Amino acid sequence: MNNNLPNRHDIPSFWRPHGENAVFLHLGENPFPPTDRVRKAIIQASEHANRYPDTNCRALREKIAEYAGHGVSPENIIVGNGSDETIDLAIVSFCSPDGPAAIFTPTFFVYEFAALRHASPVVKISLAADFALPDRRSIPTDLAQQNYSISFIPNPNNPTGALTSRACLIDYLEHWPGIVVVDECYYEYSGETVVDLIHDYPNLLVFRSLSKSFGLSGLRLGYAAACRSIIEAMERHAMTFPINVCAQAAGIAALEDAGIYQRRIAEIIERRDKLQHALQDIGLETLPSYANFLMTLWPAAWMEKQPAKQLADRGVLVSDQTMNMNLGRPALRIGIGAEDENQRVIQEITGIFQKNP
Ligand SMILES: Cc1ncc(COP(=O)(O)O)c(C=O)c1O
Repeated sequence: MNNNLPNRHDIPSFWRPHGENAVFLHLGENPFPPTDRVRKAIIQASEHANRYPDTNCRALREKIAEYAGHGVSPENIIVGNGSDETIDLAIVSFCSPDGPAAIFTPTFFVYEFAALRHASPVVKISLAADFALPDRRSIPTDLAQQNYSISFIPNPNNPTGALTSRACLIDYLEHWPGIVVVDECYYEYSGETVVDLIHDYPNLLVFRSLSKSFGLSGLRLGYAAACRSIIEAMERHAMTFPINVCAQAAGIAALEDAGIYQRRIAEIIERRDKLQHALQDIGLETLPSYANFLMTLWPAAWMEKQPAKQLADRGVLVSDQTMNMNLGRPALRIGIGAEDENQRVIQEITGIFQKNP
């Protein structure tokens, strides 16, 4: 038994305390409920819940391929129970004891979590000072010259919201060892993709999710796109029935409603920019974001004052990324919610600033 694994009940991000007026902005969820078409699809699919789902998710993969465009075919797609599952599958399929996984820190904690779960070695490489992926040539030789089996690059990054340029990603694809994962979980917010490059780079594995842009976090639906040989290797390790009937039907319906979701995303981006200005007016530093959250950096003097806890006490849950960012000052990731929730964030932060001058 591996007792070094973190217990999920100890991870603050997973807390969801009950409370009448609580505002949940700590998990980067989409504030909009599913569209009517998605709701109807879930109800219809539930009528067949006595039957096993399509193990190959054929209809869903066809819809995803059509949505992804750029000549991506269903054979280039594998779906997972959330991108979390595709991360796990990638570790299981490609990592080996003499081929560590590389992660660029600060980053999304699940890459390391999944590697630990499968006893796969992990090497951490620091991001550049502006939180972009470091120029490959600037990485110290002992870190650059390892026999990586897989490297995880979220683009945009979580928790910073920073975007890495296409040119930089191509440089890694051409020179970095092993499989290069470009995790486009927030693709619809950034509008930037390298999915078109799966035809040119047999080492490229792109992840996407329906959690953030299509608001299906609760149904768990993610997918990966890559050349056939990568997808085939992952298929061998996949569960027999990973995606339930409701999630498959909801995924298809959500992609059919892509136009509606696109308009909602534009609205969330507008709200993000508005919230960013308001937070800056209060005196908080915020990093530029290409995702559906803002990374706020607090004055170092606030380290002892635990602003995330103070906000939680006032019913506003945000993600405390202070340890992950490791800047010697509190770093709080705040998801973009409904208009009244964003107002509440401003109100409560103003309140704790007044209480702790
Ligand atoms: C970069 C990144 N990848 C993947 C995920 C997981 O998404 P899913 O809900 O599809 O498992 C997240 C969730 O926050 C994320 O930030």
